[in-house]
Amino acid sequence: MEAQARPIGVFDSGLGGISVLRACVRLLPQENFLFFGDSANAPYGEKSLDQVRALTLSAVDRLLEQGVKGIVVACNTATSAAIGLLRQLHPGLPIIGIEPAVKPAALAAGSSSVIVMATPLTIREDKYQKLAAAFCGHANVISLPCKGLAEMVERGIFDGPVLDAYLQDLLLPFRYCNIDYIVLGCTHYPFVRKAIARNFGRPVSIIDGSEGTARQLRRQLEAASLLTDRTGFGTVTFQNSRPDKLAMSQTLFQMKY
Ligand code: SIN
Repeated sequence: MEAQARPIGVFDSGLGGISVLRACVRLLPQENFLFFGDSANAPYGEKSLDQVRALTLSAVDRLLEQGVKGIVVACNTATSAAIGLLRQLHPGLPIIGIEPAVKPAALAAGSSSVIVMATPLTIREDKYQKLAAAFCGHANVISLPCKGLAEMVERGIFDGPVLDAYLQDLLLPFRYCNIDYIVLGCTHYPFVRKAIARNFGRPVSIIDGSEGTARQLRRQLEAASLLTDRTGFGTVTFQNSRPDKLAMSQTLFQMKY
């Protein structure tokens, strides 16, 4: 098969990366996409760095064995833990990661504060610490580890009293601070965006990095002359290390949030 006609591999620790997949499909509707979610091992954000690296390398190998022309690591945790390593191991292959959208939020926030919600591992990692430090002169960047939130999304909890109680506990201390932006620094969180907004209790802009990742994917494929010349719509195929999660993958792909 011609290189341009091959699918783009999108990988996540579970189902959250479907929020990034959607942005990629919107921007590049003619491409074929192959999404692999590792729900059997989700969530990654509460594992050790070595575990996340090993799982990410093996997921990427699985996609490469199926002939993908580029990889989107649609998981903030896997990106912070393994993107450098992946690029070393696969030079020349377009590999796009995702990072919390701290830059646009901090630049727009001015003198107010920005909350970055992410997994404990993302926040601990050097990559995020450097990013937050680079923009703390523009706005007050508050890093908020959200232990357990990605897992709720994996379990299909997008609403309801358990999620409300969790979010109220997490966000209440910030409700009366001068906060204009919440950054969703985990690809699972867009699926609970409405619940986050409601439980924050006052107007706030909530942003994520999926559109930026999709634009970066297009730039990299274009630079490598790997964009498809197909004129009709491409296909989207789901795979998961837990086959019982395939139906939910389709649901999330179509869900409005
Ligand atoms: C997780 O697997 O813990 C969350 C994925 C992410 O960080 O985007």
